[in-house]
Amino acid sequence: MKLMSIAGARPNFMKLAAIAKAVTKHNESGILPLIHHIIVHTGQHYDEKMSKSFFEELSIPKPDINLEVGSGTHAQQLAEIMKRFEPVLLAEQPDVLLVVGDVNSTIACTLVASKIEYPLARGRKRPILVHVEAGLRSFDRDMPEEINRILTDALSDLLFVTEQSGVDNLLREGVDENKIHFAGNVMIDTLIQHLEKAKQSDIKKRLEIPMRYGLVTLHRPSNVDRKEVLEPLVECVEQIAEQIFLVFPVHPRTFSKLTEFSLMDRLQTNSNILVTEPLGYLNFLNLTQTATVIITDSGGIQEETTYLGVPCVTLRENTERPVTITEGTNYLLGGTDYSKIFATVFQILDGNTKKATIPKFWDGKAGERIIETLVNAANL
Ligand code: UD1
Repeated sequence: MKLMSIAGARPNFMKLAAIAKAVTKHNESGILPLIHHIIVHTGQHYDEKMSKSFFEELSIPKPDINLEVGSGTHAQQLAEIMKRFEPVLLAEQPDVLLVVGDVNSTIACTLVASKIEYPLARGRKRPILVHVEAGLRSFDRDMPEEINRILTDALSDLLFVTEQSGVDNLLREGVDENKIHFAGNVMIDTLIQHLEKAKQSDIKKRLEIPMRYGLVTLHRPSNVDRKEVLEPLVECVEQIAEQIFLVFPVHPRTFSKLTEFSLMDRLQTNSNILVTEPLGYLNFLNLTQTATVIITDSGGIQEETTYLGVPCVTLRENTERPVTITEGTNYLLGGTDYSKIFATVFQILDGNTKKATIPKFWDGKAGERIIETLVNAANL
């Protein structure tokens, strides 16, 4: 069975790592068919710190093919991925195409594969289309990822979901229930696997981070692309830094906007804020585990903190991962509601945090469940 997996941007890599590991485990188990796994990197993220370091730290096999598309507008990036991916798909003709998450690479490759025509002799007109982390919905169509999620799910043959809301959303959209599989969370598979190694990181010592600290990440276009939104957010971070030391690894998009709006200097000169480049997986996980609070607009961090029981303040109007609020440690606070943000953060700093549970199937075995289902599907 030929399985082709796609990865393009940073949040894809930890999910791919769990899939690759489950494939290896399957092949070692002796259960047939063996899986020939081909990894395609679109090159959407290309920096050492946004891409290569993740492949190394997570022991993901080196991509067989790199499309090297780089950055651009949405249309340019999508078009470039599609143009470069089509010949690769035709040359390899995998039985199964697996995409993860909600980035531009996810929808671009799924769309190409949905319309491909393999030569007749192949027996299969196109690959089985698989979406891992299906069904999540923020119900906010201004968010590029929401468009990517809806379209990828509409085209996929097998949809693996991480939480019950994903099942409910897909059923409401009319997806055949036989296509939907509640497999759990592959990102949590990778987290569980690397927790011990992450604990050994010396990052806190090296960067002289005190015992009690908060962690900040911001990169959503809705928070960082406009000065009138980003400047007050920087002020908000500065005010929180009066109460607790903050570590702020800056995403490339955010770095360029902070620089463009002349906001970088004041963050860098604040002695209670440590501004760093994007951190590798193990260093970031090390900091996540022992943070007093995390302030973020990331999707994945909402889930990682829920698993770890670390309070997470999400600066967004909505979340596509509601289980992190109903069962987890996540607090959702619209990015401009400063009095509520302060009240919540200060309450957390005082030790008043929610009691949380780990959501169903966030148990380290999601990748294995997915591979088992794929093997059965490809045998049909
Ligand atoms: C993308 C995803 C987003 C995900 C995020 C994680 C889409 C629509 N968005 O957003 O869902 O949460 O990745 O990081 O797919 N850049 C670099 N080096 C890199 C990559 C990007 O410097 O390796 C810079 C470029 O200037 C680029 C900008 O960052 O224009 C934004 O990158 P892009 O991939 O377009 O979107 P992200 O904001 O990273």
